[in-house]
Amino acid sequence: MSVSLRALVTGGGGFIGSHLCRRLLADGCTVTCIDNFASGLRRNIAGLLDDPSFRLIEQDVSAEPLPDDLQADRYYHLASPASPNPHTPRSYMALPLETALVNSVGLRNVLELARRRGGRVLFASTSEVYGDPHEHPQREEYWGNVSSTGPRSCYDEAKRFGEALCMIFVRSYDVDVRLIRIFNTYGPNMDPEDGRMLPNFITQALSNQALTIYGDGQFTRSLCYVQDLVEGVLAVMESSRSDAAGRVYNLGNPEEHTILEYAKLVLELIPANRSRITHMPPVPDDPSRRRPDITRAKSELGWEPRVALRKGIETTINYFREVTAVS
Ligand SMILES: NC(=O)c1ccc[n+]([C@@H]2O[C@H](COP(=O)([O-])OP(=O)(O)OC[C@H]3O[C@@H](n4cnc5c(N)ncnc54)[C@H](O)[C@@H]3O)[C@@H](O)[C@H]2O)c1
Repeated sequence: MSVSLRALVTGGGGFIGSHLCRRLLADGCTVTCIDNFASGLRRNIAGLLDDPSFRLIEQDVSAEPLPDDLQADRYYHLASPASPNPHTPRSYMALPLETALVNSVGLRNVLELARRRGGRVLFASTSEVYGDPHEHPQREEYWGNVSSTGPRSCYDEAKRFGEALCMIFVRSYDVDVRLIRIFNTYGPNMDPEDGRMLPNFITQALSNQALTIYGDGQFTRSLCYVQDLVEGVLAVMESSRSDAAGRVYNLGNPEEHTILEYAKLVLELIPANRSRITHMPPVPDDPSRRRPDITRAKSELGWEPRVALRKGIETTINYFREVTAVS
């Protein structure tokens, strides 16, 4: 990436956004982060606040149009609650209207700024646009199996609408918008309390509680380490392909394991714990299988995940040990 690009990252205080901000700063970009901390944690970016190339604007990106002085060369729209767990206060099920708005009105505010002032946009969509898929693994061409009225619709339908909105700006206004569908990602800066599978398992194991599996544990998930994901985000944003605007890329790790296997690995990597595994009723609408087909990103962008699962989970456990020790 060329030095001194101006980047604007909505949701830069979140799990993925905070890693992206760090990576962009390391590349020599000036970074403006817009975040209202609806689901992100201030500590994720506390270490960046003294960097003269970094600016934090605490604002709801859905609230009003973005002023022209926020113009940038690259806009990354990551703002959105992302955890599905209905029992946690920062999940999209706990913030359904905010979630629907940030992926529509908030996204529009970013797209309009790029339309007026120029610059390239990347929208963080999700594997949840595939719903409970009939096709496995999921390719970008698959249209999905989503319920427009189900409990997850505030998120998955909002992301689908967001993708459609991006295509309007590509086709009607010639804005260069890049689209990624992120599959389950993990690593440091995840909120230990956000209710997703791996944070749950790690926090439970670190406190010697039983690891909770919703259902029988035979559903599968594919987990991508956050550092790999961020490299994929940059590869899509900086692609020089002539058809890059409006082209969708799956970003995730195709290595698939059952939820039970993840629970067992966490127990193995925290050897002193006395935790067991306990089963709870399945979560409604929970997809049974999820695995990305990343052939497109691999062949067109040369991107693929590199961090081994065991190594990534070890690093995440160390991070969780640190933050749960200080909180
Ligand atoms: N983590 C994953 O596995 C995953 C998977 C698929 C897609 N995604 C997408 O990637 C993006 C980042 O996810 P994450 O895991 O880092 O989630 P996160 O909740 O940690 O980060 C999202 C950030 O957006 C901020 N935000 C939410 N609404 C906002 C608003 N209206 N205005 C300003 N800021 C707002 C939150 O405070 C938070 O800091 C999201 O768009 C999510 O849908 C993530």
